[in-house]
Amino acid sequence: MKPIKVMSVFGTRPEAIKMAPLVMHLQSRPEFQSICCLTGQHREMLDSVMQIFRLKADYDLQIMQTRQTLSSITSRTLLGMESVLEEAKPDLILVHGDTSTTFAGALAAFYHKIPVGHVEAGLRTWDKYSPYPEEMNRTLVGDIAELHFCPTQNNRDNLLREGLRGEMFLTGNTVIDAMQTTVRPDYVFQTKALNDLDFTGRRVITLTCHRRENYGKPMENVMQAVKTLVERHEDVEVVYPVHLSPVVRECAFGILGGLPRVHLIDPIDVEEMHNLMARSYLVMTDSGGLQEEAPALGKPVLVLRRETERPEAVRAGTVRLAGVEQEAILRHAEELLTDREAYQQMARAVNPYGDGHASERIADAIAWHFGLRPERPADFTASE
Ligand code: UD1
Ligand code: UDP
Repeated sequence: MKPIKVMSVFGTRPEAIKMAPLVMHLQSRPEFQSICCLTGQHREMLDSVMQIFRLKADYDLQIMQTRQTLSSITSRTLLGMESVLEEAKPDLILVHGDTSTTFAGALAAFYHKIPVGHVEAGLRTWDKYSPYPEEMNRTLVGDIAELHFCPTQNNRDNLLREGLRGEMFLTGNTVIDAMQTTVRPDYVFQTKALNDLDFTGRRVITLTCHRRENYGKPMENVMQAVKTLVERHEDVEVVYPVHLSPVVRECAFGILGGLPRVHLIDPIDVEEMHNLMARSYLVMTDSGGLQEEAPALGKPVLVLRRETERPEAVRAGTVRLAGVEQEAILRHAEELLTDREAYQQMARAVNPYGDGHASERIADAIAWHFGLRPERPADFTASE
């Protein structure tokens, strides 16, 4: 029996973190020949994930440029994929989520008439400029893909509402698979700033903020709110691993640089990040991944955005939309710092996004699609 040749195409940090468990699972099964094509949309932040999970790239398009534009990411990926697809001739291409790599990778596959499997399918805000350009990226990939791997029931309902073609599977999110290996109670940080922190005597807030739709005024508001918060609460320490985007770094260092108890550090590897969150009091973020990871760790999350495509944990009461206005962010954060009951209500571990077996379900679904398994995998059911 000839194995199914599956090419995973990814290029940014979150895609790599969430594809890593799946790639490792595919590698472990004889029905598959797994190959990886990196676009290199990110560099340092991508390489760090490849190292942690000991993944090897078969192809690397190396497209990253400083202050790259959406057009440059998309066109450089499309052109780079041409010779790769001609040479590798995969049976299936897997893309993840909603980045420009995701969209261009799926489009390149379509131009070569290669079927596409979309991992983390069906997330929607229904606002094409928020998140920008991610909402449109994932919507367009939905039209291209043959196989849709939806983390939650809500994600699958979104696709059914759109009347999409193709097979839909309810799998859970692979990020929860990744967390099975990264989070450890006896973990020792390698980053000095984290090792020196007093996680028991101080209240540590993990902060991240990088989204393109927050560039400019919204991001300045976030930084100003954090500055006021730290000035008003002496037992608070903020750890902010600052994204390598120059736009983000100018804003973060411009407003928060040099403040006592605000630790602006370089991006940390995913093991450091998960264990940092696990020891924090609160997470404030505009990241998608953190909204899934922190609830699993029992950490309240304030989302620094106007909307979210991840309503499951909001419904469960562990994530709140704080928005991008200074006053609202401060109000939410101060409530969690001063009202014990409000904090306890949010600080519960919930797992609406996965059970640690998403990769297995996705691999089973692919095997079923190619006729190597008699039955579709059973749906993931969330336990809260
Ligand atoms: C991208 C994704 C976004 C995802 C985010 C995760 C798009 C359009 N956006 O946004 O959905 O949430 O990744 O982090 O696909 N840079 C480096 N080194 C790195 C990574 C980035 O120097 O390892 C700098 C470069 O100057 C680059 C800039 O960051 O031009 C922005 O990177 P880019 O991938 O365009 O956007 P992100 O904001 O990272
Ligand atoms: N992350 C990390 N190091 C950092 C910041 C984030 O490893 O310094 C991880 C985080 O735990 C999550 C993923 O990166 O798994 C989220 O990526 P990001 O916020 O860049 O993208 P998004 O999820 O918003 O698309």
